[in-house]
Amino acid sequence: MATLASRLNFGTARQLEVLGAMEGFIRKQIEAHKERRKLWFPNELQPADANSSPEDEALLTRLRDAARGIPVAVLVALALNLLTEEGLPHFHRLIAVHFGSGNVWAEWNNTWTAEEDRHGCAIRDYVRDARLYQMTEVEKLQYAYLEAGYDPDWEQDPYRLLAYTSLQEKATQISHSNTGRMAGTAEPRLQRVLAHISGDESRHYAFYRAAFGEILAQDPNQALVSLQKVTLGFSMPGHTVTNFDQMSEVIRRADIFGPRQYQKIVEELLDHWKIGALTNLNDVGEEARDKLMKVPKRLQRIADYADAKTTKRTFKFDFLPADRPSLEI
Ligand SMILES: [Fe+2]
Ligand SMILES: [Fe+2]
Repeated sequence: MATLASRLNFGTARQLEVLGAMEGFIRKQIEAHKERRKLWFPNELQPADANSSPEDEALLTRLRDAARGIPVAVLVALALNLLTEEGLPHFHRLIAVHFGSGNVWAEWNNTWTAEEDRHGCAIRDYVRDARLYQMTEVEKLQYAYLEAGYDPDWEQDPYRLLAYTSLQEKATQISHSNTGRMAGTAEPRLQRVLAHISGDESRHYAFYRAAFGEILAQDPNQALVSLQKVTLGFSMPGHTVTNFDQMSEVIRRADIFGPRQYQKIVEELLDHWKIGALTNLNDVGEEARDKLMKVPKRLQRIADYADAKTTKRTFKFDFLPADRPSLEI
């Protein structure tokens, strides 16, 4: 019978050994994850059943009224959140390509994908029912994003994938919950949808953080090198979306997500994994550890610089509603 390591696709001999030996650990993490989660479905948040009741129809009218009060910056953030979530095929594929099939990692990938798939559905159900956007414009962005493919330069390093997902799950959690909070005054229903999604992201974060923590324990030198590369070069999952730069600039200016939020994530992870206290490393590991410990300061400088040169600007997007096609922020 093929060993687990032989069913993993990429990695050095040592990485395959480490990841293969983690089968029991990952299985326990999957079980703990399933105990922590409460499975929810998009239809429970935004019902669309056959023979809908008069209350359901009245809800749609209330929803469309409330949606007009959602700030335009929130509309931009929500559009990017939707595009990112609907980019799920990219991420399922990346995990499948790096971790192969017929093993415990693939089992996690399937569970994770089933959970993530509801995120795009739930946001899309909401934005469609609320008539938030020029939907064809959103769909064109979505189509282009998927058709372009997505291949981050991880150099076939499976540790980088797990470092990336640790950072990315926390980043999406913050992005969804801040978007929801800013929408909440005008539209508590949208906040509720985003709170469900953000809850999932925090449990995914716990899974990947534990998985990468185990890698750090088993293979610290290589793990630090991989983590350092990903942390410095981190881009949000939707960064290849057309107009991503303008959208993420609005989101930064609205204080939903930007270098300041990313800095906090890096600090939290460095602290959780006790990176600064790691000893018994080789020269390469020590160098990576020291570089990593300098990342928060560097991110702070980036955030300060961005704030200092920010002056009000007008942003316009084709997907925004015709009566509110732009915003000044
Ligand atoms: Fe998600
Ligand atoms: Fe997630």
